[in-house]
Amino acid sequence: MNNYIELIDKKLDEFMPICYPQKIFKSMKYTVTLPGKRLRPIMCLETCRMFGGNIEDAIPTACAIEMLHAQTLIHDDMPCMDNDMYRRGKLTNHMVFGEANALLAGDALLTFAPQIILKNSKNLGAEKLVKIMEEYFERAGAYGVIAGQVVDIESEKFEVTEDDEQLPEILDYIHTHKTADLFKLALRTGAIIADATDEQLEEITEFGQAMGVAFQIADDILDVTSTFEEMGKTLGKDKEAGKLTYVNLYGLEKSKKDLNELLDKCFDILKRNNLQSEIFEQILNKIRIS
Ligand code: IPE
Ligand code: IPE
Ligand code: MG
Ligand code: MG
Ligand code: MG
Repeated sequence: MNNYIELIDKKLDEFMPICYPQKIFKSMKYTVTLPGKRLRPIMCLETCRMFGGNIEDAIPTACAIEMLHAQTLIHDDMPCMDNDMYRRGKLTNHMVFGEANALLAGDALLTFAPQIILKNSKNLGAEKLVKIMEEYFERAGAYGVIAGQVVDIESEKFEVTEDDEQLPEILDYIHTHKTADLFKLALRTGAIIADATDEQLEEITEFGQAMGVAFQIADDILDVTSTFEEMGKTLGKDKEAGKLTYVNLYGLEKSKKDLNELLDKCFDILKRNNLQSEIFEQILNKIRIS
């Protein structure tokens, strides 16, 4: 895991030289290079390895997905969205660079990321690059993360009660798009680069969906139970904002139970498809909450 993180951090630095106008490049690089867990790029590289590909080939795509993730965090933290002051243990992008610049840094990353893939992955050939671009745009845009974020913000106006029959489906939609979509993007592009079969792509998509939703349930739980020191962001805000989260809908106990069942399902998918990866096992075990 640490070898992957070192490699990803080195490449992120290389892919992001500070050009003119320096302010925008500095602000893009600020959030990207803060010490996140690097889960999505690790997942991309590990999937590529697991399906027999060369991880060197997946490095630009893995780094681009971390840039896209940073974009979602910058915008997610802005006053018009979750209004957060801290991210990855440091001040959020708009607190350091101002709101206008944070907005532009997010926009810039959204387009910079696929550009990094195209500029640095010519060796993959046109056919694979088109497939990777299709994956990127599907998950990054209005069918993907943005769809999830729109409904997440809308949910602040809902009255969250257990007997509202529509809410479970809406919650699943939010989790699928705001979180699982980037997981699936990382896994599927890693698989595509490794020449995985359609069947293997389906297996890894099912895995990414379950793992992404599990990850967001854990994030919803940790918003209630963890600390700033542990998470590097202000917690307790989901309830305050009246968001539709797993904990707000089902309570802590059921959230923990469902989280751990989903993680068991992830292990099952790996086993059933004979996918061997200590890295994925480590990540799944880290998401678990007892
Ligand atoms: C934060 O993701 C956003 C969510 C989907 C909950 P991570 O918890 O992976 O954030 P970093 O990359 O480690 O900062
Ligand atoms: C994260 O949801 C989703 C995206 C950033 C796309 P949250 O709003 O719960 O993430 P945190 O808690 O701010 O990291
Ligand atoms: Mg949010
Ligand atoms: Mg947030
Ligand atoms: Mg959260």
